[in-house]
Order: sequence, then structure tokens, then C-alpha cells
Amino acid sequence: MRAPQLLLLLLAFGRSQAARNTTFPEGFLFGAATAAYQVEGAWNTSGQCLQPLPLWLMLQYRECIAGKGEHIWDRMVHTRPNCIADRTSGDVAADSYHKYKEDVKLLKDVGFNFYRFSISWARILPKGDVSVINKDGIDYYNNLINELLANNIQPVVTMYHWDLPQHLQDLGGLVGSAFGDYFEDYARVLYTNFGDRVKWWLTFNEPGTFVDGYTSHGCVPPAVDAPGVGDYLVAHSILKAHARAYRLYDREFRSEQKGNISIALSAGYGTPKTNSNADIEATETFMQHSLGWFAHPIYSQEGDYPAVMKERVANNSKAEGLFRSRLPEFGEYWVNYIRGTADFFGLNYYSSWVVSHVGSSLDRASRWSDMDVMSSQDPGWTVSVATWLAYTPFGMRGLLSWVSKNYNNTPILITENGWADTGEINDTMRAKYYVNNLAHLLDAIYLDNVTVLGHTAWSIIDNFEWAQGYTQRFGLHHIDFNDPQRPRTPKESARVFAALIKNRKLPENYLDKVIE
Ligand SMILES: *[C@@H]1O[C@H](CO)[C@@H](O)[C@H](O)[C@H]1NC(C)=O
Ligand SMILES: *[C@@H]1O[C@H](CO)[C@@H](O)[C@H](O)[C@H]1NC(C)=O
Ligand SMILES: *[C@@H]1O[C@H](CO)[C@@H](O)[C@H](O)[C@H]1NC(C)=O
Ligand SMILES: *[C@@H]1O[C@H](CO)[C@@H](O)[C@H](O)[C@H]1NC(C)=O
Ligand SMILES: *[C@@H]1O[C@H](CO)[C@@H](O)[C@H](O)[C@H]1NC(C)=O
Ligand SMILES: *[C@@H]1O[C@H](CO)[C@@H](O)[C@H](O)[C@H]1NC(C)=O
Repeated sequence: MRAPQLLLLLLAFGRSQAARNTTFPEGFLFGAATAAYQVEGAWNTSGQCLQPLPLWLMLQYRECIAGKGEHIWDRMVHTRPNCIADRTSGDVAADSYHKYKEDVKLLKDVGFNFYRFSISWARILPKGDVSVINKDGIDYYNNLINELLANNIQPVVTMYHWDLPQHLQDLGGLVGSAFGDYFEDYARVLYTNFGDRVKWWLTFNEPGTFVDGYTSHGCVPPAVDAPGVGDYLVAHSILKAHARAYRLYDREFRSEQKGNISIALSAGYGTPKTNSNADIEATETFMQHSLGWFAHPIYSQEGDYPAVMKERVANNSKAEGLFRSRLPEFGEYWVNYIRGTADFFGLNYYSSWVVSHVGSSLDRASRWSDMDVMSSQDPGWTVSVATWLAYTPFGMRGLLSWVSKNYNNTPILITENGWADTGEINDTMRAKYYVNNLAHLLDAIYLDNVTVLGHTAWSIIDNFEWAQGYTQRFGLHHIDFNDPQRPRTPKESARVFAALIKNRKLPENYLDKVIE
């Protein structure tokens, strides 16, 4: 028997079904999420401006310059179509740019308290910097925010969900020396235009995922092959930029706007493969080196990267004959500047991993060889159409407790959680996934004293799943991407959510029996 199964059994006998409280505490918030590139479409509105115009025309139609700019995902889908499983793109996606009112109606019908969406940087600032501000882009997000508030749904806004303006990529991208300046300026534009109504901000979504754009020539832009180097450099730059956006809010906006700011970090929950000390230690290293990488500098008392991470990368770098660690150093100024720059913990949770110790390998340097661990899935788990996503609801409680313990019981908002399939309307597996993830979330609240502010379902609608195109669906509502009207149809999971939000209680029928 594998360790996680044993763990589940122990949990099963450790408490009875009757003891589990399936009622949500007062004030607990329910929301659903999307990201700009995955749903908006309208990739080139006023797009004629992307092409060079004769000078006289440019002078005559200045507003024409202010279309949406191209970003790194636009560039990738158009220049490397083979990267996308079904050779599609987000050019039109769910067409939420035109159908946002319909999307707000879907949120309202399910009963969600908030909508987490992202702003497309290149839609507001076509070149990434503030030299051009696209009024259409500002108008679009103002309309969306106003429509949400008119329906009593709070906007939770992500500033960066992977769609870097191509112009900034050309100027060095996320690791360019001016990136922090550009991000701070962008944040100022957002606070200034939307901060009177937006009270929840997330600076970056899942930096631990998009750093993979710097680990291979694969299909995450900008596809730079520098594992164990580029990913660390990006993370370093992102942590500083995040902190700058937070400090800017403190200095100039917080006293008036009174909002909350954080970052959305993703993590798989690691469980040791065996109960050997080596595997238990490997699991802790895995957690520190994946989630602690971003969380420790922001949320720990002492700040900076986790000690185990600094030590391992430094040792390996030395053994490789390098003159300095591949993990950059912050220095005291930045350690202090970054520490404490979050008002809550934004956490994306989908799935768990079985973790074991590897023992020194001769692999090419990477953050995985630095960790010296292997993560795999238990053969007993049900795996979704997305190979990385297994049905492991116990990890919801495990991860919440890990975060709460490591970071001084900081309040946590689950900023993403969801299940992938191929688009079934009767999506009973998704319903089961949500009900049982929420059951373990409630266990974390009631049994482990974790402060959980709310839960966000990924996603309210089917959307463009990056390199997987439209082959993997996460929506509570189905979209027919072959129909120009992009019709939305509620799935079983939308109905289950509507009932559980209304009753503020989990339904019995989808709840796994803890004792057989
Ligand atoms: C379950 O939780 C609800 C909401 O927090 C609370 O009102 C109720 O007393 C709890 N029930 C039990 C049996 O603890
Ligand atoms: C926008 O892109 C579409 C392809 O997605 C193309 O057909 C159309 O001509 C472009 N529009 C402009 C204004 O460039
Ligand atoms: C900010 O978050 C705290 C919990 O961390 C909450 O009590 C407060 O109401 C939030 N502020 C707003 C404006 O939502
Ligand atoms: C790093 O190297 C030092 C000195 O050789 C050693 O004492 C320490 O155990 C190593 N740390 C790790 C995490 O391997
Ligand atoms: C959905 O699927 C479940 C399980 O397969 C089945 O019991 C149920 O009748 C189906 N519902 C509809 C509306 O087809
Ligand atoms: C949770 O808090 C209660 C009340 O403060 C305390 O009695 C209990 O021991 C705590 N449980 C855990 C697991 O920390």
C-alpha cells in the first residue's frame, strides 16, 4: 500500500463522517475565475495600428495607435501554431470582450460573491509602458467592473496572468533591468483607473508556473532554454516587482482606496512516498523549493528564500565550478523590502504529488536537480485529461494547513481550484471534485484552525487552455467554440455550485464516504 492511501485510511478512521461539519462559516466567500487571454478574444481590436501606417494617417488618427498591443502569447500562437495541441489560438477565445455582460449573468445565476479576472496589460498599455494608454481598454474594464458591482459581485483583479506585452519582451522581458519600473507604472495606471472600485488585487498569477518560459525551448513563451538559471532569475525579478506594486499602494493609494493586495501562488501538495526520513525530508524540500520559493520571502518572519533552497543551490553551483550561486541573492535591502508585502495569501490548488528522495544525479542543472526529489502520482489516483491533475481532495486540507503553519496563520484565499475534462455537460466528476475539495477545505477550517477567506472555482466558463488549446475544459459552463456566437450552457457542476452556495452547505450526494 502506498503512503497516501495509508494516510487516507488513517484519516478515515481518525474521524467519523458525522463529526465533519459541512456548513460554511459566516462570511466565507465563493468566486469563480478567468484570465484575459483565455477568455477575452478581441486580440487585435483597432489592430490596424499594429501595422505601420503612413505618417499623415498616424497624425490624423491618433486614437488608432491605441489599439490592443501584441503580447507574448499572441506572438507565440501566431508564429508557432504547432505548439498548441489543436492548432487554435486565443484570438477569439470565449469572446468575453464582447460577451462580458453574459458572463456576469452566469456568475450571478450561480450566486458567486466575487469574480477573479485578469487585466490584459497590452490592452491597456499597448507597448507595455505608459507612452500610449488605450482608452478602449480602460473603458472595457470599467464596464466589466461596473456590471459586476451592479450585480453585487466583487471584482478580484489579477494584474499579470502571463500575457506580457511583446514590446516589453523585446526590451528584456521579465528579467530586463527595467521590468520593475514598467510593472510599477502599470500598477499605478490600474490603481488610478480602477482602485476606487476594486478592493482585491493580485499582482502575479502563478509565477512558479510561468517561470517555465525560461527552462526550455518548449511552448511557454518566451521559450528560453536556461533551466536552473532563467527560472530563478525570473522569480527574483517577479518578487521585486510584486513588492514594488504593493509598496506603491501603501505609499499613495491604500489610505484612500482601502483594498487588499496579494499574489496568487500555486502549489501541488506533496506527500512522502515512504515514511523514511529521506522521503519525509525530500517532501519538505519539495514544498519549500516550489511554494516556499515565493512564499518565504513575502510571508515568513525572516524573509528571503528558504534556507534549504539557498544552501542546496549554492552547493550545487559550487560543485559545477560556477563563481556564484545560480540562485540570485537579494541582499538586506530587498529582503526587508519584500517581506510583509501581502495582505492575505492567494493560493491556487489543484492536485497532489507523491514525493521521494532521488540521491545525487548527474542530470543537467535545473531546479529539480537542485531539489533532488522526484514527484509522481499514486497509481490509485484518478487522473484528469490534464496529466498533471489528479483527484486528490485530501491535498486541499494538507496544503492549507502547511501554509497556515509555515506562515503564521495568515488568512488564505483559494484563488484557483478546478478539474479538467473534455467538455461534458453532465460533468459529475467536476462536481465531485469541487464538493470534496470544499469538504477538505472545511476540515482545514474546523479541524486545523486555518483561516480561509473563500474559494475560487477555475473556471466560470470553458476557455483557451494555453498549449492545450480547447482540448481541456475547466468551465462550469460549456462553450461551443465552433459557433461564432460562442453559446454558453450550464453544466451539472454549475447547478451543484448554485445549490451549495444557496444552502451554504455541501450536498450529500457528491460527498465521498469517508468510512465505507
Ligand atoms: C458547523 O459550522 C457552522 C458554521 O460555522 C456552525 O454554525 C455550526 O455550529 C457548526 N456545527 C457543528 C456541529 O459544529
Ligand atoms: C485581426 O485578426 C484577425 C485574425 O484573428 C484578422 O482576420 C483581422 O483582419 C485582424 N484585424 C485587424 C484590424 O487587423
Ligand atoms: C482585507 O482582508 C481582510 C482579511 O485579511 C478582511 O478582513 C478585510 O475585510 C479585507 N478588506 C477588504 C476591503 O475587503
Ligand atoms: C552544503 O555544503 C555544506 C558544506 O560542504 C554541507 O555541510 C551541507 O550539508 C550542504 N547542504 C546541503 C543541503 O546539501
Ligand atoms: C449524469 O450522469 C450521472 C452519472 O453518470 C447520472 O446518474 C445522471 O442521470 C446524469 N444526468 C443527466 C441529466 O443526464
Ligand atoms: C484550534 O483552536 C482551538 C481553540 O482555540 C484549540 O482548542 C485547538 O487545540 C486548536 N486545534 C489545532 C489543531 O490547532
